Amino acid sequence: MLKKSKLLAGAMLAAFSLAIPAHAADVKEVQMLHWWTSGGEAAALATLKDYLAKEGYTWKDVPIAGGGGSAAMTTLKAMVAAGNPPTASQILGYYALDYAKAGKLNNLNELATKEHWADVIPKALQKFAVTDGNWDAVPVNIHSVNWLWINKAVMDKIGATEPKNFDEFIAMLDKAKKAGVIPLALGGQPWQEATMFDSVVMSTGGPDFYKKAFVDLDPAALKSDTMKKAFDNLAKLRDYVDPNYAGRDWNLATAMVIKGDALVQVMGDWAKGEFSVAKKTAGTDFMCYRFPGTDGSVIYNADMFAMFQVPADRRGAQLALADATMSPAVQSAFNVIKGSVPARMDVPDTAFDLCGKKGIADVKKADAAGTFVGSMAQNYAQPPAVATAYTDVVTKFFHGQIKTSDAAVTELVKAIDAAK
Ligand code: BGC
Repeated sequence: MLKKSKLLAGAMLAAFSLAIPAHAADVKEVQMLHWWTSGGEAAALATLKDYLAKEGYTWKDVPIAGGGGSAAMTTLKAMVAAGNPPTASQILGYYALDYAKAGKLNNLNELATKEHWADVIPKALQKFAVTDGNWDAVPVNIHSVNWLWINKAVMDKIGATEPKNFDEFIAMLDKAKKAGVIPLALGGQPWQEATMFDSVVMSTGGPDFYKKAFVDLDPAALKSDTMKKAFDNLAKLRDYVDPNYAGRDWNLATAMVIKGDALVQVMGDWAKGEFSVAKKTAGTDFMCYRFPGTDGSVIYNADMFAMFQVPADRRGAQLALADATMSPAVQSAFNVIKGSVPARMDVPDTAFDLCGKKGIADVKKADAAGTFVGSMAQNYAQPPAVATAYTDVVTKFFHGQIKTSDAAVTELVKAIDAAK
């Protein structure tokens, strides 16, 4: 009798399980939108995918090529508008705040509290990952844009050393030009030119000026002689690019330096990921110096994963992604390859090369000194509309559609005013 009822219970249980619709079980898949399509970027992302695979999650990639992420942001907007957001999206600064304020993101507070995220993530980044007290995005790294990436053999050949200010930088570029090497590897796309201009402004005016102009949007600073001088300096750099620079992707510009076809690229430290996948060693094959005249300051942008409101059966995968991203192991492995600094300040620098170690030390020093400032070009100083207005003016100036520095500052004030 007992046996019979056990059998019956078993049969009922089996029937019950079969009756549960498939979607009631957790979907063990992470869908991620990102613009990490270069060799170094893909290699870094693989560390996160592998980590999640070990936990039983599959990866559905939504890659939208285009450095700086503007194409990715357009796709994301369409997916969210269609009510079909990804589990998470790579995102920068003010874009995350916009989605959070629009009520599109999920709350991660339980995990954040359990894992003490607030104690290990710099306050500057928390401003973009936490809205109204709710964690809704997870920072995977801290990049910075004020770097030079130099081919060491070319630098030695032309007899140059680390330039310490803008004039020394120009002198170095002149030496390369005389030696018949392309001095400056530039990808002439708007976001790359604007990203380079962030560094030029910091070098020309220093951190207080940068903050006044780009964080406070002080009109006097935006149209000052210092800003004019920054545009003059940007114009000087135009003399050192090759004729094919317009439209070039950033990683192709990095490849020119890796191969020794060009001396230097001004680029965020994602460039180092390309040197790493090409098996080049920092200090031997290439050098990483702060953009001349910006030592002591870090112009940052941090890649975050914005966690969208997804159906309940995808929530587990989302939390697994957040947990993996914040794990010290992923923060180290990912950033060693990506070229960036861990977003967690408690991750040791042991596994990093000399550029990575310098990056980590620089972030800590700048954060303590008040010289850790958001990149205007990368949406960490201002919301997207203002950042786009800035990028437009810089690129028009660089390509000669705005002819003088006087006109450039006038246009800058006008464009920013209209975008505010
Ligand atoms: C992102 C980096 C990325 C770079 C080039 C930046 O906006 O923050 O992670 O490597 O664009 O694609």
